[in-house]
Amino acid sequence: MRIDVISIFPDYLAPLDLSLVGKARAAGILSLNVHDLRDWTTDRHRTVDDTPFGGGAGMVMRPDVWGTALDDVLQDGAHLLVPTPSGEPLTQRRAEELAREQQIVIACGRYEGIDSRVAEHYSQRPGVRVSEFSLGDYVLNGGEVAALVLVEAVARLLPGVVGNPQSLVEESHGAAGLLEYPVYTKPPQWQGHEVPEVLLSGHHARIERWRRDQALQRTGARRPDLVAALDPATLDRHDLAV
Ligand code: ADE
Repeated sequence: MRIDVISIFPDYLAPLDLSLVGKARAAGILSLNVHDLRDWTTDRHRTVDDTPFGGGAGMVMRPDVWGTALDDVLQDGAHLLVPTPSGEPLTQRRAEELAREQQIVIACGRYEGIDSRVAEHYSQRPGVRVSEFSLGDYVLNGGEVAALVLVEAVARLLPGVVGNPQSLVEESHGAAGLLEYPVYTKPPQWQGHEVPEVLLSGHHARIERWRRDQALQRTGARRPDLVAALDPATLDRHDLAV
């Protein structure tokens, strides 16, 4: 997969050299290219923004600069992603869909955002899809942190990036649609806190049942919206008793 990130702060994306994403790049599983938007400016001041038509606070990023950058970077079949607090929420299902793309281009806005004609223009271009996405209901200073989040969420789903693919199945927001159960390791006693006895029993069926009960209880307490979205056909009679 190829991912291109365009930003006026390319240094913000430096952590993408580290850890699993860095290894995926080194292994050739992921080709990741970070670009400085100002490389596409033509004036002496390398201007990327201007005042908003209609008035109001702040600055808006110019469509002409973004247009020349995106014309250079977008390949046929690309998915252009624009992080913005007014986008659709980023979910694990969305990350799974994006992990099947050939090229993702992330356009990181700053200030009051990117002139709306940019998304409109590229969504009309044959062979390009455009999505605006949000990390959550809060406002960041720009799209760079959202780009980091998106790249990590997608890259770890690419075949060969996470060592044990089973860990992708069991984690929170995995196939079961539940938050993950609590996990424990050695020592069995710490600061007066014990590991739940069932986990030391070696009884696999009981452990599975306990983990599922914990996941259901946790999800019910923290994310009732996820419980409401569960397919009733996937619930057994023990689940319904939790
Ligand atoms: N840019 C600013 N705030 C954002 C958010 N919540 N999600 C994605 N991009 C953003």
